[in-house]
Amino acid sequence: MIAFITGATRGIGKEIALELSKRGFDIAVNYRKETSELEEVKKEIEENGVKSFFVQGDVSSFEDCEKMVENVEKEFGKIDVLVNNAGITKDGLIMRMKKEDFESVIDVNLTGTFNVTRNVIPYMIKQKSGRIINISSVVGVAGNAGQTNYSASKAGIIGFTKSLAKEVASRNILVNAIAPGFINTDMTKVLPDNVKENINSQIPLKRMGTAKEVAKVVAFLAGEDSTYITGQVINVDGGMI
Ligand SMILES: NC(=O)c1ccc[n+]([C@@H]2O[C@H](COP(=O)([O-])OP(=O)(O)OC[C@H]3O[C@@H](n4cnc5c(N)ncnc54)[C@H](OP(=O)(O)O)[C@@H]3O)[C@@H](O)[C@H]2O)c1
Repeated sequence: MIAFITGATRGIGKEIALELSKRGFDIAVNYRKETSELEEVKKEIEENGVKSFFVQGDVSSFEDCEKMVENVEKEFGKIDVLVNNAGITKDGLIMRMKKEDFESVIDVNLTGTFNVTRNVIPYMIKQKSGRIINISSVVGVAGNAGQTNYSASKAGIIGFTKSLAKEVASRNILVNAIAPGFINTDMTKVLPDNVKENINSQIPLKRMGTAKEVAKVVAFLAGEDSTYITGQVINVDGGMI
């Protein structure tokens, strides 16, 4: 089985790659920036006895996505599971938010999800099977001050997921979303300590989640225990909403 994961060299994406590799999936990793850590990620994946293949590309570019998917198909001959994980934030109150900050977040998070999915779906339709797992966010469900752009992109992913699930169910393709709460990664590292403490106090489990806790739910949705689940959003948020 082959899984293609976007933005998978760090944070939640990397943990998803490792978790799925432990469960026997060969892994196609998309990355945007060349970093010295790529070799280490490759090694960690392959230590689980599976193959890995790395494709560079910006998910906000349709052409990049077309090339990436083509290359993964050439390498592995199929894609069983697609995880749309790549994402960015550019937070700010609406009064100060620049148009470019709104657009770039939508371009990467929402249009990026379309760009990759649009190129993968013909192969899944042909093989009459597939799983698509989109990483949304609790703020796409509940909203968050200072994140109008990000929340809109993540709410968009939920609508996209539910519509696509209905469209491709007859082809045996299951499409679901995960809405993580606050997860300890580079994305949330930048928050000041007092903000983190405030967030933790509002989470019933009183702590941020780990990337692994999200990855395990991805593995459930990618595996054989979720064959009757599609069009759903699973919150992984310590009880936040
Ligand atoms: N952390 C949280 O609390 C949290 C909560 C809810 C949802 N999420 C979502 O979970 C996903 C992963 O977040 P994270 O916390 O792991 O973030 P992260 O540590 O900042 O990692 C983001 C990943 O996305 C990649 N990426 C960004 N823009 C890209 C582009 N245009 N094309 C290809 N790859 C791109 C990055 O690649 P580079 O290394 O090249 O920049 C990186 O691998 C995101 O969709 C995020 O919105 C996170």
